[in-house]
Amino acid sequence: MKKDIYAVIGDPVFHSVSPFIHNTLYNKYGINAIYLPIELNHGNYKKFILEYSKSLNLKGINVTMPLKDDIISILDETDEVSGFLSSVNTVDLKEMKGYTTDGKGFVQSLTVSAVDKKVVIIGAGGAARAIAYELKKIASNIVIINRTIQKAQEIANKLDVEFDSLDNIEENIIDCDILINTTSCGMAGKADFENLDFVDKLPSGAHVYDIIYNPIKTALLEKADRKGLTFQNGLGMLICQAFFAFEIFFGIMPSQKDKEFIERELAK
Ligand code: ATR
Repeated sequence: MKKDIYAVIGDPVFHSVSPFIHNTLYNKYGINAIYLPIELNHGNYKKFILEYSKSLNLKGINVTMPLKDDIISILDETDEVSGFLSSVNTVDLKEMKGYTTDGKGFVQSLTVSAVDKKVVIIGAGGAARAIAYELKKIASNIVIINRTIQKAQEIANKLDVEFDSLDNIEENIIDCDILINTTSCGMAGKADFENLDFVDKLPSGAHVYDIIYNPIKTALLEKADRKGLTFQNGLGMLICQAFFAFEIFFGIMPSQKDKEFIERELAK
């Protein structure tokens, strides 16, 4: 029987672990499909999706940099949150409908409760927006901190949360329950924070979440660990956003056991 094709599109995509996550789930749940990385950019993705998806039997895609915003222009519909945030990471090609599972994936992966908590988010890119949007539903207080304060202000105004400059991080985190890094600082091959002295200002009960998963333990998490704080890396978010995409495609939410298995394999 002809297999359905699913794919992650963007540039770069060949480093992506989405194919591993989705193909593992196809095996486990007996789905007759294969999931591929397909390198596409602003110049060629429209032609590819609109002209070739039918003949390739391409049924659904995940979308990564730099197309999360641009892809909306070829869709018939978006769900409420992806439309509001102008960010789509999952497309059901049968319906030409876009979704974003990034924020939901983040909240699902959190290993501590954010209910009525003060959350400080470092960064003002797409990930920060999606996370802040979902956390706004449960946290008592959210502050967006960014190197470029204008970008923090833009998101804060849109989502009705607080904002400040990265220069003032210390005063913002002294009473924070959850600190989240959504910047590229500490990512393999990227610059790290100029210094991590601010970690010393976190209260002893704080939880530190770095959405980076390469490396598995960033310098920020190393420091949080040394201070005795609880912490987690970005593998949980990566897996949970993929699980929500899988649910959109097939109507099945993978189990906690699947998550633990994939997390163990990816940490190897
Ligand atoms: P994404 O959409 O993946 O979340 P992005 O839009 O590329 O990411 O945003 C990257 C974030 O990392 C931004 O908040 C950026 O800060 P600026 O808005 O000031 O550019 C932040 N960032 C990147 N390098 C940084 C650095 N060396 N120090 C502090 N923040 C940095």
